[in-house]
Amino acid sequence: MSQSNTTTSILGIASGKGGVGKTTVAVNLALALCAQNLRVGLLDADLGLANSQIVLGVNAPLNVSHVFDDSKTVADVAVETQHGLLLIPGASGNQSLANITSVQARSLIDQILESFPDLDVLLIDSAAGLSSANMSFLDACCMRLLVMQDEPASIADAYGLIKLESRKDRLKDLYLVPNRVSSEQAGKRLFDKMNLVCMKFLEEPVSYLASVLQDDLFGRVTRKRETILEHYPSSPATKNIAELAAVLMTKLDQINAPSPARERV
Ligand SMILES: Nc1ncnc2c1ncn2[C@@H]1O[C@H](COP(=O)(O)OP(=O)(O)OP(=O)(O)O)[C@@H](O)[C@H]1O
Ligand SMILES: [Mg+2]
Repeated sequence: MSQSNTTTSILGIASGKGGVGKTTVAVNLALALCAQNLRVGLLDADLGLANSQIVLGVNAPLNVSHVFDDSKTVADVAVETQHGLLLIPGASGNQSLANITSVQARSLIDQILESFPDLDVLLIDSAAGLSSANMSFLDACCMRLLVMQDEPASIADAYGLIKLESRKDRLKDLYLVPNRVSSEQAGKRLFDKMNLVCMKFLEEPVSYLASVLQDDLFGRVTRKRETILEHYPSSPATKNIAELAAVLMTKLDQINAPSPARERV
């Protein structure tokens, strides 16, 4: 788990409702962090309908289903992409894997950390919903990014996840990422709205990371098996993702910095 490896920051990307942009944010953020010379792993923890490899435009002949049936190791199934990213592909069309136990989820993360101790960051792209497997993956993270859109179902499901996180007393590590917004201000307004609800009903704030703008380029590149960072480096979408990565790196530095109290011990 994250605690057993002090050098890898494990970050979870969650949403509650499906289809709001977790994989888009996870893949592009992973690539932007690679571009900053970090050693980055991306675990596609959508074990029922995995598609990170499609958004990345890479072939993944093996996946975590082979790790769970003990026929392969994590190192066997992992793919080093041409971008310098380590992808641990999820499984698709395997219903039993969509319901793995928390022990299995923890064991998978431990195997990744043991096989790749050089990772600076391990991003976990979650499946939709609040399954126990999903929650177990999030348990392993030092920081959780909650991707949401400004539409009622996404807001309601994001709040459902926030409530669960609040019960685990870890809202301070939860960061909202408004996605598909028309402007940075619109994203900030969505965050403010959510934060007000959290303050009122949970008596605790949530944090803001950064917003991702609506940009059809995200979908267009996937259809061409391209990525925005590689093929459209000067596009607004790429700049937007680079900013998201920069803000995240600052937060990570704050989280990983030894506290003055700890330094004194
Ligand atoms: N900022 C954006 N601008 C335009 N399109 C976007 C944006 N973010 C995501 N999309 C599009 O929305 C669709 C769903 O995105 P994505 O697959 O990333 O969602 P998801 O939350 O991972 O879904 P699932 O819950 O099924 O895993 C995709 O077609 C993607 O291209
Ligand atoms: Mg997804």
